[in-house]
Amino acid sequence: MNASTKQSMMAGAAPAPTSPAPSHAPAPPPLDAPAVVEIRNLSTVFGEGADAFTVHKDLDLTVRKGEIVSLVGGSGTGKTVLLRHILGLTRPTTGAVTVLGHPASDLTTEGATSRVGMLFQHGALFSAFNVLDNIGFALKEQGTLPQDVIHDAALVKLQMAGLKPEVATRMPADLSGGMIKRVALARALIMDPPLLLLDEPTAGLDPNGSDEFCELLKELHATLGLTVIMVTHDLDSLFALSTTVAVLAEKRVIVTGTPAEVVHFDHPFIHHFFLGDRGRRAMEALPPELAGFPVKES
Ligand SMILES: Nc1ncnc2c1ncn2[C@@H]1O[C@H](COP(=O)(O)OP(=O)(O)OP(=O)(O)O)[C@@H](O)[C@H]1O
Ligand SMILES: [Mg+2]
Repeated sequence: MNASTKQSMMAGAAPAPTSPAPSHAPAPPPLDAPAVVEIRNLSTVFGEGADAFTVHKDLDLTVRKGEIVSLVGGSGTGKTVLLRHILGLTRPTTGAVTVLGHPASDLTTEGATSRVGMLFQHGALFSAFNVLDNIGFALKEQGTLPQDVIHDAALVKLQMAGLKPEVATRMPADLSGGMIKRVALARALIMDPPLLLLDEPTAGLDPNGSDEFCELLKELHATLGLTVIMVTHDLDSLFALSTTVAVLAEKRVIVTGTPAEVVHFDHPFIHHFFLGDRGRRAMEALPPELAGFPVKES
């Protein structure tokens, strides 16, 4: 047992996967895979008149079934707002957001959580509820299932997120940062949604915690056949998970492609993001055949 596994177990997390081999991002789905999210000509304007503030303008994005899309962009460029559009929580000023063939705005009225799971930027759990009640919250709100069925479903998701059953009765204040992320993930998956949105899922985790969380996401993506859209500033997670990178700048998605393709795109944000010190370190850790792009000599 290595040190990080031991530490995880002491903290109440299930043992980390035993294979220490670094694994690569999943292969992208076929180009004719159906669209799960289609955003067309999206504009988002907050405020009115002199206070009007445009966040998105003529933004287009298509996400196909089985993709893991990393959405990157500077702070305040509208990444979280874009996820809120996909969830149907923010309405487009103009343009259309379609999720699984329906306008996203329908999601809030008919079973949003059964179609889209969301892990919010600050992973907020309900502090007054224990872990199991947090995970089962959406099922309970639905009001159609008996308590013992909700309990069992939440327990399955708890373990799917790599936590041991004894964590079930703990309160959020008694959890480590990594465990909070796992509980939030279990909660997002309670209704078996085909689409998972993650807002900075590894922020605040140490490198070990972050690697373990990426492995968990990769495993769930493969076993549950999920489509994932993940906002991230974490280049290690980006390279470990993404089939696709979408870059938000100038109020729109300026480029989408594999990580290797996007790195070649000529734009100041991309230079700064991928070719700064952090980016070069993350890229140097990749096998050359996967990186497929030049790493500048320092
Ligand atoms: N409901 C709202 N009303 C007015 N302005 C808003 C609202 N929601 C977000 N904004 C503004 O929209 C802009 C984009 O916000 P958003 O939270 O999407 O940024 P972000 O790209 O996620 O940034 P970060 O990387 O820091 O999380 C910000 O200037 C924010 O203040
Ligand atoms: Mg944000």
